[in-house]
Amino acid sequence: MPPWPSSVRSLARLLAGGIALLLLSGSGAARTELALPDARDRIHPVYARQGLVVAQEVLASQVGRVILQQGGNATDAAVAVGFALAVTLPQAGNLGGGGFMLVHDAATRQNEALDFRETAPAAAGRDFYLNERGEVDETRLRHSHQAAGVPGTVAGLALVHQRHGRLPWRQLVEPAIRLAEPGIPVSPELARSLQEARERMAPWPASRKVFFKADGAAYLPGETLVQPDLAESLKLIAEQGLSAFYEGDIARKLVADMKAHQGAITSDDLKHYRAVVRAPVRGTYRGYDILSMPPPSSGGVHLIQLLNLLETWPLGELGANSAATIHRLAEAMKLAYADRSEYLGDPDFVKVPVAGLTSKAYAKERAARIDLNRARPAADIKPGQPPRYESEQTTHYSVADRDGNVVAVTYTLNLAYGSGIVAAGTGILLNNEMDDFAAKPGVPNAYGLTGGAANAVGPGKRPLSSMTPTLVLKDDRPVLVTGSPGGSRIITTVLQLVSNVIDHRMNLAEATVAPRVHHQWLPDELRVEEGLSPDTVRLLEGLGHRVVVREAMGDAQSLLRAPEGWYGFSDTRRPGGSAAGH
Ligand code: GLY
Repeated sequence: MPPWPSSVRSLARLLAGGIALLLLSGSGAARTELALPDARDRIHPVYARQGLVVAQEVLASQVGRVILQQGGNATDAAVAVGFALAVTLPQAGNLGGGGFMLVHDAATRQNEALDFRETAPAAAGRDFYLNERGEVDETRLRHSHQAAGVPGTVAGLALVHQRHGRLPWRQLVEPAIRLAEPGIPVSPELARSLQEARERMAPWPASRKVFFKADGAAYLPGETLVQPDLAESLKLIAEQGLSAFYEGDIARKLVADMKAHQGAITSDDLKHYRAVVRAPVRGTYRGYDILSMPPPSSGGVHLIQLLNLLETWPLGELGANSAATIHRLAEAMKLAYADRSEYLGDPDFVKVPVAGLTSKAYAKERAARIDLNRARPAADIKPGQPPRYESEQTTHYSVADRDGNVVAVTYTLNLAYGSGIVAAGTGILLNNEMDDFAAKPGVPNAYGLTGGAANAVGPGKRPLSSMTPTLVLKDDRPVLVTGSPGGSRIITTVLQLVSNVIDHRMNLAEATVAPRVHHQWLPDELRVEEGLSPDTVRLLEGLGHRVVVREAMGDAQSLLRAPEGWYGFSDTRRPGGSAAGH
């Protein structure tokens, strides 16, 4: 049974039935305005006239709303929410991880992508995670101090503040301190997730001290989780900025913890870490501009590649979640994930054929090979030849302010609570992002993703990601802001959200809760959520798909612009999220 509430499941079922009705009026000639909720809709997004924050945890969304009300802009709110989530959503919110951010500056209409992905420590060469038999040592790769890449979050938040912030830095870190020091009420979701992580954290005294009671028992919903060490780390960051983390007291404690446990990160690794500004990867979809995260994320490249493939078919007419639509989605997804395994890596180390992979001509050529009446076995699919032009646990939040600035942030520790290891004395959980490298060619990582030379481990290199913070623009202004957690499922979650809004004319709430599907080439299975009709599943099986019903995928946190303000919707797949606006 999937671990999501029955109310959500029945809503999804209801929707699967009701969507066909919506479509009867929505199909036909392409329209370019996006669907806004009206009184007849069963589910509504949240409306705000001025600014809106949508995040996976309610206290953090409130922090963002207050910052907007205090006169902060969208990037100020994004910085404050990033720090707050490190306290309130320790599964994924973090100081010890990394991520990506897309920023739209309304005054200049410029867009930029900030890359604060973790980097491999200098000691981590290509075969770093192989044992003496040449096999991948999964414990070292995922559940040890060596699992951690050099964290980028504090540098990323500092960089966006330096470039776009309006309020003082200290004011943005302060709310997180006020959550960590007196403590937060443990939500049912946090209690459940800590219970689940208990065995992984048990070997580490510093982790036990922070996340479990003195007798080792787990916190119950409604009890208070106090994080004094994290509060001290946040105070240092508030006072000294990023240098506290990369060169000062926090750095010293992190390195001491590394030394005590054969970790790889040194003080030089920390000192040399840099967040970087990159140009977003760009595409178009049925008259909209799509901007998303470039490598070292695979997210934006494959989102655009997939949208290019989808554009070759009249999905609006074929219907949302019809077998015909899902078949096309699955066949397109297989092609994209096969290419991912071959071509994607850190662009500072390998040449990624971004222009080729995202070109309409390449999509046309690949789409022409898709059999519309038969699923192609994954074994028959190899990465394509894109033109060589020169040239379960992550979290996402989206922010918009009254001036039209928007920020889309996806950041992560990788698995829930990262490696499960708190660096002693800091309250900071260490990521296990090194598992996103291809530790050995062809050996799948925790998400079942494989890779080769382009994503091999290398000193200073950033592991390949699937995170896909995305902006959809019309006339240079964002109309849809979205992103999601979900490991390898992030790209396909964002894809279906965009397609539901543009092709299927759903309002933001409907587009979010509609059942999702996913195919990642390997394993060769079409993964679907509960809520598809049994006859749709039978039709897909008849086309040759191996359909498996698995737990819910993704947790999108999105905003949609309307003439009268912003609509926001926090995915209902994981409890506790909220849209908070003013
Ligand atoms: N750690 C998951 C991702 O970056 O894709």
